[in-house]
Amino acid sequence: MSSQKKPHLNLVVIGHVDHGKSTLMGRFLYEIKAIDERIIREYEEQAKKLGRETWKYAWVLDKLKEERERGLTIDLGFYKFETKKYFFTLIDAPGHRDFVKNMITGASQADCALLVVSAKEGEYEAGISPAGQTREHVFLAKTMGIDQLIVAINKMDTVDYKQERYEEVKDGISKLLRMVGYKVSELPFVPTSAWNGDNVVSLSDRTPWYKGPTLYEAFDTFNEPPRPTDKPLRIPIQDVYSIRGVGTVPVGRVETGVLKVGDRVIFMPPKVVGEVKSIETHHTRIEQAIPGDNIGFNVKGVERTQLRRGDVAGHTNNPPKVAEEFVGRIFVLYHPTAIAAGYTPVLHVHTATTPVTFMELVQKIDPRTGSVAEEKPSFIKQGDAAIVRFKPMKPVVIERYQDLPPLGRFAIRDSGRTIAAGTVIEVKEVKT
Ligand code: GTP
Ligand code: MG
Repeated sequence: MSSQKKPHLNLVVIGHVDHGKSTLMGRFLYEIKAIDERIIREYEEQAKKLGRETWKYAWVLDKLKEERERGLTIDLGFYKFETKKYFFTLIDAPGHRDFVKNMITGASQADCALLVVSAKEGEYEAGISPAGQTREHVFLAKTMGIDQLIVAINKMDTVDYKQERYEEVKDGISKLLRMVGYKVSELPFVPTSAWNGDNVVSLSDRTPWYKGPTLYEAFDTFNEPPRPTDKPLRIPIQDVYSIRGVGTVPVGRVETGVLKVGDRVIFMPPKVVGEVKSIETHHTRIEQAIPGDNIGFNVKGVERTQLRRGDVAGHTNNPPKVAEEFVGRIFVLYHPTAIAAGYTPVLHVHTATTPVTFMELVQKIDPRTGSVAEEKPSFIKQGDAAIVRFKPMKPVVIERYQDLPPLGRFAIRDSGRTIAAGTVIEVKEVKT
C-alpha cells in the first residue's frame, strides 16, 4: 500500500561470522510478519530433522542449500520489509572471511548498516581481534561510504542479560567505530537475543536496565538518503536505443541533479551535445526527472552510434569530468600474490568499464586503524588498504566521492574476481 510513498533505504547487515546476523534478521522478519508463519514452520521441521532447531530463523535468509548444510551465509540474501517511516531492502552479508568480497558488493549498494555483535563469552573478543571481521567490516563499511549505522548486541541470553557485559561490548565497539570515523554518541546499541526475541520488536523485561529503542524502532532513526537534486546533473548511460519516429533514446538512472524537457545536455567522454525532447519513466511521460529515477530520454541532434554504455550525461554548463588520472583509497579483497605499480586490471565505475593501470602506490593504510602504515610501498597484498594513483586506459567519467558519491566509488576486477573496491579522492581531468 503505502510502501511506494515511503522513502527507500538499502540496509546491509554486517558482522563477524556466526554472531547471529541471519538468525536475528530472520527473527525480525518473522515478528513483523514479513514472513509467512507456514514457511517458518516448514523450516522448523527441516531443521529438527538435522538436529539443529535453532537454525530455523537463519534459514529464512540463508536460502542456498550449501549454506543450510554448513550453517553459514555465502552469498548475499535480499529481503524487503517496511517500518513506520521506510521501505527497506535488506542485504544479509556473510561474515565468513572467504566471503568478504560478497560483503563488499553488499556494502557498495547500501545506504545504512546494521552491525551485529555477539555478546557471548569469547565471540565478541574474536570479532574485535586484529583478524576479526567485526573490525574488518566496520572499516569496510566506512570505506564504502556507509555513514549511518546501528548496532545490535546479540546473544544476550548467553550472558544472562547482564548489563555489565552489555556495557563492556558497547564501550569496545564504540571505540572501534570512533577510530574509523563514526559519530558514536547518538548511535543505538540494542541488546538482543535472536533466539528469544528480546528487544527485536518489543522491549524485553529481561533487560529492565535498557530503555530502548527496539531494533524495529532503531531502523527508523536512520535519516533519509539525500536526493541530491541540488548537485550537477549526472546520468550514467546504461543503453542507447534508436526508436523509429522518435529518434535517439539513451537510458539510465539519474544519480544527481534534475533533468528537464528542453535542457541542453552533453555526453562525456564523447562530448556530444543535444536537446532533450521528452523524458519517460516506466512508459509514462514526465516533464522532469530526479535522482533515483530510471529514465529513457529522447535527445535531438545525437546519433545512436555516437553514444555507448558508460558515457555520462550532464548539463552543458557543468559537464561530467573525464579523468586522465585519479587517486583512490582502496581495500584489496583478493589477490593471489602481490600488486605492484604497472598492474593493469579492469575498472568498474557507475556503468563504465575500462582497463586501468596502478601508476603509483602512494600509501599503505592500516585497515584496522585507518592510519598510514607505509609511505610509497613497493607492493600491496590481500587485506591491505592503500591510497593508489590510477590511470584509466580509455577516457572515462569519474568524480570525487566527496562531490558525487555514485560516480566516485569503484571496483577493480581481474579474471572475473573482485580484486579491490574503493572511493575516489582526487581527479586529474583530461585537458581539452
Ligand atoms: P554468517 O552468515 O555465517 O556470518 O553467520 P551469522 O552471523 O548469520 O550467524 P547465524 O545467524 O547463522 O548464527 C550463528 C549461530 O549462532 C547459530 O548457531 C545460531 O543459532 C546462533 N545464534 C544466533 N543468534 C543467537 C542468540 O541470540 N542467542 C544464542 N544463544 N545463539 C544465537
Ligand atoms: Mg548469516
